[in-house]
Amino acid sequence: MALRDEGAREWVVRAYLERPWLTRLHAHTGSQGIALTMMARGAAETYALAEEINRRAGRRQVDTIDIGGGLPVNFASEASSPTYGQYARLLSETVPGLFDGRYGLVTEFGRSLLAKHGTVVARVEYAKSAGGRPVAVTHAGVQVATRTVYAPDSWPLRIAAYDAEGRPKKGPAVVQDVAGPACFAGDLLARAQSLPLLEQGDHAAALDTGAYYFAHHYAYNSLPRPGVYGFTPTGTGDIAFATVRAPQTIEEIVTESGAAHTDALLG
Ligand SMILES: Cc1ncc(COP(=O)(O)O)c(C=O)c1O
Repeated sequence: MALRDEGAREWVVRAYLERPWLTRLHAHTGSQGIALTMMARGAAETYALAEEINRRAGRRQVDTIDIGGGLPVNFASEASSPTYGQYARLLSETVPGLFDGRYGLVTEFGRSLLAKHGTVVARVEYAKSAGGRPVAVTHAGVQVATRTVYAPDSWPLRIAAYDAEGRPKKGPAVVQDVAGPACFAGDLLARAQSLPLLEQGDHAAALDTGAYYFAHHYAYNSLPRPGVYGFTPTGTGDIAFATVRAPQTIEEIVTESGAAHTDALLG
């Protein structure tokens, strides 16, 4: 609900007053790219609306406020910023009533919880040069990093270079592109990044891809959805891996592509 639209606020308040079982208010101001102060303002508006509904209802009808997710992620470095602590401090300054115990508080953080805990790792199938720049052609492109490939300025990713054995690649930084496998020229995971030169057999790791990249795969070129593997320290200095999502099989792709209906239009 756009609360400032004519009549909208009153419509929401009435909706609550006419439905005594409505007890929560929810705001999600959008994911990424919204300044912290703007997010806090969104929470303040939601709180003010809850207070108004309760005043007009003459009772504590709204007992819980859900402030959604939306905390942005820093995709440019290892630093986790802004932090939950910074957001909580700003909220308690901007909307002190949110924390005085009268309201239950629900959050729906997604990207900020998960992005830095996932990495897309792709083998370099071959390396070439185009437009005067080295290009490492990998198995990860538009089918796994859809937003990054179609809107590279809004969703750039950091790439880390590893050798064939998975060791960090050494060597001078070279400005290069990292491309995906799809059939169009713009299928680029990264443009003009400075990295040790990626060569055939090396690995390119697209960092901070633990959040939306898990779900953004689509069936372009019938490229299979990759497996997802979790890892955890064993306590004895080793790392144990476990399959979290199995890679898509060729049979599944054929089924999804309509294998059961191949003769649907044949008389
Ligand atoms: C209603 C709602 N809550 C929470 C989220 C998660 O947002 P984020 O991943 O930015 O924390 C979304 C995603 O846009 C959403 O639509």
